[in-house]
Amino acid sequence: MAPKNPKDSKTVMTDMVLPGETNPLNNLFGGELLARMDRAASIAARRHSRRITVTASVNHVAFNRNVPLGSVVTIEASLSRAFRTSMEVYIDVWMEDRFTGERSKANEAIYTFVAVDETGKPTEVPEIVPETDLEKERHAGALRRKQLSLVLAGKMKPGEATELKALFTS
Ligand SMILES: CC(C)(COP(=O)(O)OP(=O)(O)OC[C@H]1O[C@@H](n2cnc3c(N)ncnc32)[C@H](O)[C@@H]1OP(=O)(O)O)[C@@H](O)C(=O)NCCC(=O)NCCS
Repeated sequence: MAPKNPKDSKTVMTDMVLPGETNPLNNLFGGELLARMDRAASIAARRHSRRITVTASVNHVAFNRNVPLGSVVTIEASLSRAFRTSMEVYIDVWMEDRFTGERSKANEAIYTFVAVDETGKPTEVPEIVPETDLEKERHAGALRRKQLSLVLAGKMKPGEATELKALFTS
């Protein structure tokens, strides 16, 4: 399988926050944002793998800023790293100022998807070659995030998480 670049999977979704999608403070409901991010990230994983993809884990979500009713929200998702059958997708959420049009970062998240065949069996995906400094930084951190996710899921022994351990000992 030929390697791909993060830009091959980049997915951009722009939408508005409508009534019915907010909490009692009239800010975007967290679960609604999780669903929107999952959708964008799933498309990115599918663009990379050209396979059916399923969400394996949500590794990190930071709701740093509230997103008020009426906001225009842009979700950008692209692959930071592909392993054998799993893919880490990095998601940046931007808000647009309604008067100036200026964009500011509202939230970010990291999801893991697995490519599967029609029977749900994990199947191999192309590797990824990062190009920009940001892509390289995200690519470099992906293995320790994968190990942390597997340890938390009880699928890897902490002692086997070598990359993760190195973070604390270096
Ligand atoms: C995700 C799923 C396919 C993994 O199946 P599995 O039997 O654990 O398969 P494997 O052990 O072969 O793991 C497959 C890959 O997923 C990765 N993986 C599994 N669980 C993971 C987790 N919690 N975090 C990060 N990666 C994970 C493995 O490391 C492996 O990656 P690699 O091949 O790139 O090294 C399976 O658990 C599943 O179908 N889950 C339901 C998915 C779903 O329905 N999502 C929507 C939720 S509503």
